[in-house]
Amino acid sequence: MNWDALVEAAWQAREMAYAPYSNFSVGVALLAADGQVFLGCNVENISYGLTNCAERVAIGAAVAGGVREFQAVAVVADTGVPISPCGACRQVLAEFGVPKVILANLTQRLEFTLEELLPRASSGILDRPE
Ligand code: THU
Repeated sequence: MNWDALVEAAWQAREMAYAPYSNFSVGVALLAADGQVFLGCNVENISYGLTNCAERVAIGAAVAGGVREFQAVAVVADTGVPISPCGACRQVLAEFGVPKVILANLTQRLEFTLEELLPRASSGILDRPE
């Protein structure tokens, strides 16, 4: 599949970032199983710790829209190398089984499976087999 449209949607979402503390904007586009695209941007807070990453904002938007099944997520930022989701966001993406993760900057695009980024995401927790 050609992921250009999803990556472009993530760049559009990045325009909405609220990042007055880090001045670092991140955009996400999350492709649902049914083809809908949900957007996310980082939403910072003066406490720092309450900052929401773009990935979790997109997951929240989708779940609030009644969607829990996904094909892929694109994450973009204007970084030297394509940005990589933080550990917390990897776990949240794993919660909903987002299978493919596309990471992009202005010149490069990388593709990973979530399993590559977070192996054994839920093994053993609450005795759930993976
Ligand atoms: N951030 C994201 O939104 N997603 C990532 O994958 C990495 C980091 C945000 C959190 C914070 O607002 C800023 O980027 C700096 O860490």
